[in-house]
Amino acid sequence: MTIVTTDIAKAARAVEDGKLVGIPTETVYGLAGDATSDSAVASIYVAKGRPSFNPLIVHMRSIRQATEYVIVSQLAQKLAKKFWPGPLTLVMKRKPDCALSLLVSAGLDSVAVRVPAHAMAQSLLAECSVPVAAPSANRSGHISPTKAQHVQDELAGAVAMILDGGPCNVGLESTVVDVTGDTPVILRPGSITREMVESAVGKCDVVRTGAPITSPGMLERHYAPDTPLRLKAKHVEPDEALLAFGSPLKGGRVVENLSSSADLTEAAANLFSMLRKLDALRPTCIAVMDIPNQGIGVAINDRLKRAAN
Ligand code: TXA
Ligand code: MG
Repeated sequence: MTIVTTDIAKAARAVEDGKLVGIPTETVYGLAGDATSDSAVASIYVAKGRPSFNPLIVHMRSIRQATEYVIVSQLAQKLAKKFWPGPLTLVMKRKPDCALSLLVSAGLDSVAVRVPAHAMAQSLLAECSVPVAAPSANRSGHISPTKAQHVQDELAGAVAMILDGGPCNVGLESTVVDVTGDTPVILRPGSITREMVESAVGKCDVVRTGAPITSPGMLERHYAPDTPLRLKAKHVEPDEALLAFGSPLKGGRVVENLSSSADLTEAAANLFSMLRKLDALRPTCIAVMDIPNQGIGVAINDRLKRAAN
């Protein structure tokens, strides 16, 4: 039985412990975990059952907290001052020393941040020592939940508890606006409309509704290693680096092991940081061992295939 509770301190401790918690926001319920923990973020992807890594929204208590992790441009400041707390998500560049999980950005150099208006979400974020990553608390392809009961129905096995804050009053996900450039770009429409954004900061662009984040224009902003990747490797050349999974192949200049116990969730947690580490060593090639194409392994393979192109 999943615990449905209103105990905010208990929920904050669970998040700090790396567990997942269903949380209310004014838009929809979120599936929340520690945004600084690769393994907590990996377990969010596992619970959602998505076949690819979509970047997640990081919930913070204030603009001030956001400045610890991302570059808050003047444009971002203006929008945040006008619409936070509220159903607006701002995509901003990660600071070089950003302590948020790389997995939360799904390989991008930006993070989507929002300060929610729901009183219980705000209390949780005030109580929690870390920012909270939270996509909508539904399984992939299902409708977003607007009641604690919906989260219970979809994700009972995945969460340690569900904070019950009553029904969500907006009921529609936040507006997502990319503010990494000079002109704001609306990536996902929501209750904060284009007109509202334009009245605050002037002209903005809109990405075609429903365009996936992986549309050609967005793809080039994904982190891709400079080093070529060789997938499903059965051997390693002496000048290659090895990205292992399970029992490592013999040879290679350096080895990073996604999971020595062949655990796919652990592998997902390590994927982006280990790829970066090996890439920085500039081997001739990164040989990647075969990853089973099941569960979150499908998302890992999707990412590796794109990195290999
Ligand atoms: O109302 C909401 O936004 C809810 C509540 C729980 O806060 N959250 C939510 O999260 O809808 P999610 O993960 O289901 O949607 C995140 C959206 C996706 O469209 C994703 O592509 C976009 O935000 N996104 C996240 N990070 C991004 C980034 N770095 N660059 C571009 N888009 C990003
Ligand atoms: Mg969603």
